[in-house]
Amino acid sequence: MDIIRKQTVKRSDPEKHPGGTPLAKSPRIDLGTEVIPKERYTSEEFMELEWEKIWTKTWLLGCREDQIPEPGDFICTNIGRESVLIVRQKNYEIKAFHNVCMHRGNRLADEGLWHAESFVCGYHGWEYDSDGTFVDIPDLNTFQQGKPPCGGLAELPCDT
Ligand code: FES
Repeated sequence: MDIIRKQTVKRSDPEKHPGGTPLAKSPRIDLGTEVIPKERYTSEEFMELEWEKIWTKTWLLGCREDQIPEPGDFICTNIGRESVLIVRQKNYEIKAFHNVCMHRGNRLADEGLWHAESFVCGYHGWEYDSDGTFVDIPDLNTFQQGKPPCGGLAELPCDT
């Protein structure tokens, strides 16, 4: 069973963190008091703008680290319109990849928490290691392209 440890911080001076360095205050922004139009939540156009201007340019939560504790553990999750694999590596780092086979774009996993030593595409059997590199391409000699199109799965920025 996982234990969630809470970090307690003495709050005698809320302007300072425990190390004593003052926290910089963000500038106060007047957001107004007008009612937010409901289209902000229902408009496809506004959603597209948010995706383009905000969500593709900022860190987003993919999962908690304790959801993928062991090498080979991974989560397949949707972030916006993208399906993403977040994978615990053999060295315990975490990498993220687009859930897209480099051959014909088939998805490699279904949404959820899983464990795998490698990712094998269900379409033509291309296999990728948990670090995203190619492992095997069955019948490579039958592909006119000859070689895989790149070094492996398309990686996304990922940090903890
Ligand atoms: S689409 Fe994945 S192996 Fe062909």
